[in-house]
Order: sequence, then C-alpha cells, then structure tokens
Amino acid sequence: MEQVLASVGVGTLQTRDLLSSADLTRDEYEIVLARAVDLKREFRADRRHVARPLAGRTVALILEKQSLRTRVTFEAGLDQLGGHALYLGEGIGFGVRESVADIARNLERWLDGIVIRTFGHSVVSELAAEASIPVFNALTDDEHPFQALADLLTLREHFGRLDGLVMTFVGDGNNVYHSLALAGATMGMEIRLAHPEGYGPNPSIVALAESIALANGGKIVVAQDPSRLVPGSDALYADVWVSMGQEDQSHARLAAFAGYCVDTQLLELAGAGTVAMHCLPAHRGQEITAEVLDGPRSLAFEQAENRLHVQKAFLVESLGR
Ligand code: CP
Ligand code: NVA
Repeated sequence: MEQVLASVGVGTLQTRDLLSSADLTRDEYEIVLARAVDLKREFRADRRHVARPLAGRTVALILEKQSLRTRVTFEAGLDQLGGHALYLGEGIGFGVRESVADIARNLERWLDGIVIRTFGHSVVSELAAEASIPVFNALTDDEHPFQALADLLTLREHFGRLDGLVMTFVGDGNNVYHSLALAGATMGMEIRLAHPEGYGPNPSIVALAESIALANGGKIVVAQDPSRLVPGSDALYADVWVSMGQEDQSHARLAAFAGYCVDTQLLELAGAGTVAMHCLPAHRGQEITAEVLDGPRSLAFEQAENRLHVQKAFLVESLGR
C-alpha cells in the first residue's frame, strides 16, 4: 500500500486546512505517511532532495508560544523542498494590533499557507474561516495534529503497522492526547488515557474519537489508574504536566500528577516490547524518568526527527505542484 501511494502525484489531499487530527481521512493519513517514508529515505541518503515540489511556495509561520521542533522543522522542511517559511513572531501583534480577520485578509494576498501555534483553538478556526489560503494548526490548547502525524509514522516504523496497536497516554488529557486519540482512532488503534481526577480530556473530543474509532476498528479507553491501563500496551506516551499557558497552575498540577510518571517499573508492567514516547520538551523526573527517556526503549528523538519528514510530506501533498 505504501509503495503504491508513494508514487501518486503531489498535491493530492482533498482536505484544505489541518485544524484537527479529525480533519484527515484514513486514506489521507496513508498518503502523507507514505510520502514521509519516501522523503525520509531520500533525505537520509543525501541530506537533500532532487525535486523541489514547494518551489515558489511561501508559508507564514505564526508562533504565539515557544517552540524548538515546530519552528525548525517547518522552516528547514520548506527550505529543503524549495519553498520558504516566513517567521512571524510577536512583532505582528496577532489579534491585538490587528484583528485575526484582517491578518487573514492580508496574508492571503501574498502567501500560499499559514502555519499557526496559538492558545485558543477558536482563533485557528477563525483564521481558517477568514483566509482563502490553507491554515495548518501547529498546536493550540486543544490539539497538536502534526505531532500526532509524526507519532503515527514513528509507531509504524517501529512496529510495522498501526492497526490494532495499543497506546496508553499517561498524564494530562491535553492537546497532544486529543490529537493522538483522533489520529490513532482513525488508523484503527486503541488509545488509552490514564489521568488524575480533574485533568481529563475534553468530552466532546473523546466522543468524536469514539465515533471515529467505531468506524475504523479502533478503541478509546479513559480511566484513572495507570497500573490497570498500561499492561498490554505497545507504547506508553508521556507529555508535560504543565502545558504552555498553564504556568499559573503549576503548583496544583505537579501535586495532582505525582503518580503519573512513566518510569522503568511502569514500562516493565506494560510489556517486554513496550516503547516509551514523548513529544518533547521533557521534564526528566516529572512525567518521565531520565532512565526511560534516554533509554533503549525510548522513541522520543525518532518522533522529533519525524516531525521534519511528516510535515514535509504533508506540505507536498497539500501545497505541492
Ligand atoms: N513537540 C513540539 O511541538 O515541540 P516544540 O514545542 O518545540 O515545537
Ligand atoms: N502539551 C504541551 C505540548 C508541547 C509540545 C504544551 O501544550 O505545552
């Protein structure tokens, strides 16, 4: 399947915007993952690509929160395929100096797409509704679709499949969990979440993930006790306990999540072949131990690498020509 799809031409996605992990169909995930495999192979062989499918394409990169991976992989990825990323940080006064609608009505006159990282998910939806060019969500308080795409690629590389894999997310029912639940459900995975009381996911996103899982042979499980949920998991996933924008809740969160650290004991309980995943940045000793994150069963830096390949693949299939 991957080989066949990889030979399909560029710019094949029907989906225009990527606001949520629920926006892509299973076939579209397959198209992007197959393209990512090809691009990764080519890049690893020579650190360059022969074709320039994004030549002449300029994409705005609006980042209202801190970033290492997202900024570098979008900027480098566009560059490697002949396109250009235009970094727009605090200088544009997003939604303050100028309304979101007016910014959309300017950028659409000059550019080919907008990648945005911001706080409220509704801001990204508004931008997409106002702009005549595609808008891509690079993390909101609700979702992180490109992270989920990279994680799917990483899991498929390691296990050779996605269908039927079991992943347990240990910790906060946050943006990264939401996107993993939606993307994993689409690909027929079982996505479990072990979270402390009071830090569960958005019920409407869980309901959507459940309906997607039902249609695709996947499963969504949400409960509290990690030791009951992790046995039989192919992957354990950790993310920070305090996401960007929640700094004022740090004290309460660190206390609430104390029993939710992915450590060697939990990994052993999960299974002999279970891998540990983390979207990074990590706080060693909080949500994951250094022993696990830096150990042989960690895929964290493969996930980080795959942000580059999967985003390039997405951009080629979305904007390429
Ligand atoms: N995982 C991730 O999105 O990393 P950054 O916040 O550094 O972009
Ligand atoms: N949940 C984290 C993910 C960072 C990539 C945050 O939103 O800060």
